[in-house]
Amino acid sequence: MKGIILAGGTGSRLYPLTKVTNKHLLPIYDKPMICYPLKLLIDAGIKDILIVSGRGHAGHFLELLGSGANLGVNFTYEIQDEAGGIAQALSLAEDFADDEPVTVILGDNVFEGSIREAVESFNGGAKIFLKEVEYAKRFGVAEIDGDKIVSIEEKPEKPKSNYAVTGLYIYDSHVFDIIKQLKPSHRGELEITDVNNAYISNGEMEYSIVDGYWTDAGTMESLFRANQLVRESRMGK
Ligand code: G1P
Repeated sequence: MKGIILAGGTGSRLYPLTKVTNKHLLPIYDKPMICYPLKLLIDAGIKDILIVSGRGHAGHFLELLGSGANLGVNFTYEIQDEAGGIAQALSLAEDFADDEPVTVILGDNVFEGSIREAVESFNGGAKIFLKEVEYAKRFGVAEIDGDKIVSIEEKPEKPKSNYAVTGLYIYDSHVFDIIKQLKPSHRGELEITDVNNAYISNGEMEYSIVDGYWTDAGTMESLFRANQLVRESRMGK
């Protein structure tokens, strides 16, 4: 299993915090944002990790994280020239993945629990991780029927459930063929939700519900909330 952190994008929802730096380098309590998804992957036993970032701040990730040797892991860096969506960023990881399965995480997602078991038991197809939230319409939303996912809608006006699709995905190597067949969405991007719906249509998608807290940190409110959640757990509340 290899790991991929997607840390591109313009961070427009956090402007002007992102005027001179990358969103994933902003602090969440006592660490830069990207350290949280990184720790999740490393704690799951993943040793080869690719960091995909945009132009402009790529050198800052290198300076912050280095080679990974001090953590006993190996970092690779890749540049997404233009913001073309999450699935487009993931497509850049094909050579790195080298036919192995990949655990993909968005660089602004913060999870409290561990994913070690899910990573170790992964057995082909794809797996996503859901969390019940109050305002589902801001996320990809899963319609579920027992242990099956019926479909995922990206930021629906009328969500069919309260289950947000978190920014954490495990895929087999087939994911890169799926991305090659995607068409850009109405906002001109290759959507990760379309990748997931392709796995659902093929009957190859599993899900689990996230234990512990989860938040993203891509808006002012969620960034603030992420700081609060991490601080509270550090204080042992
Ligand atoms: C992305 C995904 C969305 C997912 C969310 C989780 O949205 O497109 O499906 O629920 O991440 O953080 P974004 O935050 O990029 O708008």
